[in-house]
Amino acid sequence: MQEVQKYIKDNSDRFLNELLALLRIPSISADPKYKGDVAKTAEAVADSLKNAGCNHVQIYPTAGHPIVYGEHTIDSSLPTVLVYGHYDVQPPDPLDLWNSPPFEPVITKTERHPDGAIFARGSCDDKGQMYMHVKAFEAMIQSNQLPCNVKFMIEGEEEIGSSNLGIFCNEYKDMLACDVVLISDTSIIANDTPSITVGLRGLSYVEVEVTGPNKDLHSGVYGGAVANPAQVLCDMIASLKDENKHITIPGFYDDVVIVSDADRKAMNQAPFDRADYMKGLGIEDTMGEKGYTVLEQTSIRPTLEVNGIWGGYIGEGAKTVLPSKAYAKISMRLVPNQKSETITQLFKKHFESIAPAGVKVEVKPHHGGEAAVTPSDTPEYKAAAMAMKATFGKEPIPVRSGGSIPIVALFEDVLKVKTVLMGFGLDSDDIHSPNEHYGVFNYFKGIETIPYFYQHYAAFKQNS
Ligand code: BES
Ligand code: MN
Ligand code: MN
Repeated sequence: MQEVQKYIKDNSDRFLNELLALLRIPSISADPKYKGDVAKTAEAVADSLKNAGCNHVQIYPTAGHPIVYGEHTIDSSLPTVLVYGHYDVQPPDPLDLWNSPPFEPVITKTERHPDGAIFARGSCDDKGQMYMHVKAFEAMIQSNQLPCNVKFMIEGEEEIGSSNLGIFCNEYKDMLACDVVLISDTSIIANDTPSITVGLRGLSYVEVEVTGPNKDLHSGVYGGAVANPAQVLCDMIASLKDENKHITIPGFYDDVVIVSDADRKAMNQAPFDRADYMKGLGIEDTMGEKGYTVLEQTSIRPTLEVNGIWGGYIGEGAKTVLPSKAYAKISMRLVPNQKSETITQLFKKHFESIAPAGVKVEVKPHHGGEAAVTPSDTPEYKAAAMAMKATFGKEPIPVRSGGSIPIVALFEDVLKVKTVLMGFGLDSDDIHSPNEHYGVFNYFKGIETIPYFYQHYAAFKQNS
């Protein structure tokens, strides 16, 4: 292991510069304008796998963006680790809120990252975290210390729902056969408080359209007598939660697994400073479901959020208009046992039922995904915990995260394997927001920790 760690130290400048180069390609999967750049990023990832020492690398085109697959088999009697990551990124908008251009990475010191953080879209989610695996793999290969077979599956559509990855996994089930999936696309509690994610929320995402009169109207001539879709939409959305911030959709909580008091107590032991949390967000108070702590509200409880709402006149100055249409994008984060499809249907039925006469309502489902729990009594969890202990000098804390990685449930379904979520980002790294960043410390901590995972995992499997 010393050789591996020495290799990482000796090559650290190059490891950093290679990541910066990858961050310069705007691989925005949601925007068709960037299709070429997404493809270019896939090529760059494939090249990096070849250069790192993979003995087989292939780009698989899909109906959407390509999947990069790489494989390094050393001995079929050894366990196989499948590394999953994504090279696509979220759109960087709103651009004017960035302190430096999103695809021109710069390294700046911050309060939470005194060693510097790389500011760029995708630095943390997920290019930086994905690339740690490529470099850790290179370090193990070059030091002749790779104790497992490795498969890489790096996709370009995670941020838009991974629909083609689902098809790919079913089609290439045999090729993807493995003992465990390893993913770095989540967070740790803090740079001095390592944690391992043991749960992710599911997602149901819908778009709603409210239509009133057949054209935009003069808000004076017609205002007062005709249903205003923008206001109706606000009323409808407001009614989706009661005064305790409990979701009012009938049946919404039916399948929610009740977490035991003991488990709730344990999860609230995790270090969390509410004042610091609020300060970081510039808010004076938090607002969430009554009876639950912030940690619980963002992990074991489902929620409903408006992601965007528009309609009517939003240009310069004032225009007196009663809009014909209003829209909103609404996401619901789900917990284990709730089914994305069921929740979408419940939402649709309820939302249509509360529409007042005078408007028409349409609910269009977008992508969804199931929640996942990854147990902490498995060899892979223990290997990850030992790896983090080795590099952080502290036992990691198991935590359930509020975000979603729908393919984790899919891996369990299709490949019949468990996932270990060993991420290295911080929740405060502003993923999906302006000024996304990733600590230089975190990048190298990840590269250093991953080889220990392989070492401990191989040892566990050998002895079992
Ligand atoms: N890496 C995130 C998910 C994440 C972030 C999990 C932080 C835990 C902690 C992932 O790229 C993501 O953004 N997922 C989407 C879902 C997807 C279907 C668009 C999400 O959570 O909104
Ligand atoms: Mn991600
Ligand atoms: Mn993301």
